[in-house]
Amino acid sequence: MCGIVGYIGNNDVKEILLKGLEKMEYRGYDSAGIGIRDDKDVKVFKEKGRIADLRKKVDMSFDSTIGIGHTRWATHGVPEVVNAHPHQSSDGRFTIVHNGVIENFEQIKNEYLGDIELVSSTDSEIFVELISTFANEGLTTEVAFNKALKTVHGSFAVGLLDEADAEIIYVAKNKSPLLLGKGEGFNVITSDAMAMLQVTNEFIELMDGEVVLLKKDNIVIKDSEGSPVERDSFYTEIDESDTEKGTYDHFMLKEINDQPGTMRNIIQEYQDAEGSLKIDPAIIKQLKDADRLYVIAAGTSYHAGLIGKEYFEKWAGVPTEVHVASEFVYNTPMLSEHPLFIFISQSGETADSRAVLVEIKKLGHPALTVTNVPGSTLSRESDQTLTLHAGPEIAVASTKAYTAQIAVLSILAQVAARELGRNTDFDLMQELAKVTTAITAIIDDAPKIEQIVDEYLSTTRNAFFIGRTMDYYVGLEGALKLKEISYIQAEGFAGGELKHGTIALIEENTPVFALATQEKVNLNIRGNAQEVEARGAKVCTISMDGLDQDGDTYVIPPVHEMLTPLVSVVVYQLISYYAALHRGNDVDKPRNLAKSVTVE
Ligand code: M6R
Repeated sequence: MCGIVGYIGNNDVKEILLKGLEKMEYRGYDSAGIGIRDDKDVKVFKEKGRIADLRKKVDMSFDSTIGIGHTRWATHGVPEVVNAHPHQSSDGRFTIVHNGVIENFEQIKNEYLGDIELVSSTDSEIFVELISTFANEGLTTEVAFNKALKTVHGSFAVGLLDEADAEIIYVAKNKSPLLLGKGEGFNVITSDAMAMLQVTNEFIELMDGEVVLLKKDNIVIKDSEGSPVERDSFYTEIDESDTEKGTYDHFMLKEINDQPGTMRNIIQEYQDAEGSLKIDPAIIKQLKDADRLYVIAAGTSYHAGLIGKEYFEKWAGVPTEVHVASEFVYNTPMLSEHPLFIFISQSGETADSRAVLVEIKKLGHPALTVTNVPGSTLSRESDQTLTLHAGPEIAVASTKAYTAQIAVLSILAQVAARELGRNTDFDLMQELAKVTTAITAIIDDAPKIEQIVDEYLSTTRNAFFIGRTMDYYVGLEGALKLKEISYIQAEGFAGGELKHGTIALIEENTPVFALATQEKVNLNIRGNAQEVEARGAKVCTISMDGLDQDGDTYVIPPVHEMLTPLVSVVVYQLISYYAALHRGNDVDKPRNLAKSVTVE
């Protein structure tokens, strides 16, 4: 979603801002802009579409050493140049970039902005006009900025330039993510560490309610009462080369191919010197103290949570519920006496999940976050974090994060089972090593999977994914993957549910993907496949070696029955990739979507 960058220092800022915005393209956006100072005033350049289009518009003829930039994912107002950021106050003095949503913008407009003529349809323009209005009443910029921050309700991360002062970027945040970056003779702001790795890997976290005066050789952080805050910086482990796609045509394909490596990282990170599974004892204590687990997540992470529930219940014997974050927050179910909340989030920034975290923290419940980004908001605000060790995931369609989430949840559940004295009769690390080999075999089979796409998905407008038990959950993920990048309407169903309504949608040649990796329900799912085939569906059966039958379209290598989602999903990831590719879609940046969904 929206992304912010800002720089103040000695070097020309244009390339730094544009490169930073390019690094955030993966998050999803529909317009972009930068505001940079020359020796007199702040000049704003904005464009709808890609950063490459913005580049063409930027006047490169003058140097500037202070500036702010923004990628916008439309919330208030259509994706047009006029609504792109930065926004300037009507007197031209203040220039703002803003992420988030100002909920009381209508009230602010009526109460404070009188007859100021607004040019855009954004809440962000109201924000900058409010600062300007307070400054025009005689307040200093810092006081006007603070007063405006206290007047607005909602989520925000902001960077503000004052034409009257070339030495400061004013910065603040509430709910929306924002980092400060430190350098020799310069400092930066960024929504995403990756965007500023080009100049620094040293960052400082910013907390809600804090206000920052960012100067080129000094960073002053103040809390909401105006008292100075001291905070240590940290060095990010992300290597800039991890954020490039190298020889792959798309990040998604690279990330699918990263999965065996990610599995190996996880196996290494979560075992001790003796080769036993290892999880921080404080996390295991949280789990042992809980009478019920509440897994909270969205999208693909929610689908990983469904698999995690199987592990927690079947291995560790702890009752587990899995909830979509955006529903849970407004329709909270009855909670047990000693709940433990487990947040699953690749980015660690998903606003829907964070809204739940804020609420359950008010109630005093413990929280664990399972994330790919250790310094993320969910990670910081939870009591404990488990890291995915998957490396940056750039493609909007989540692939390696899903398999990493499942692998880490399986390790957590196994350690909990061991500590709770429950006997599980297999070596998980050995089984995960087999999974790694199986994933590699499927990736090597990519040309065969591409042929499946030719045969089943070349012209269709819809597709169904069926399965039972864990295969049903993988079907949900397969359908999400296919729809988000190929735009084929795809739905996942429990095989047994078809007869209760969905089968009415089956027509001649409707593609149905049937997954058969679970012995207990192998015959049942095959029966469901026959039911749709009898009504004209074109069934693609994907089974596991050992449970396969003549005529199956693709057979995955054999792995432990509880770990099959880690392997079968790779077939669906590749199917989705090729389906999107064959339709000429932008695989990594599908329409309307954002990588990191930072608004509720
Ligand atoms: O960063 P998160 O895991 O919290 O994101 C949750 C969803 O937005 C995300 O998984 C989304 O569904 C993926 N783009 C699907 O591929």
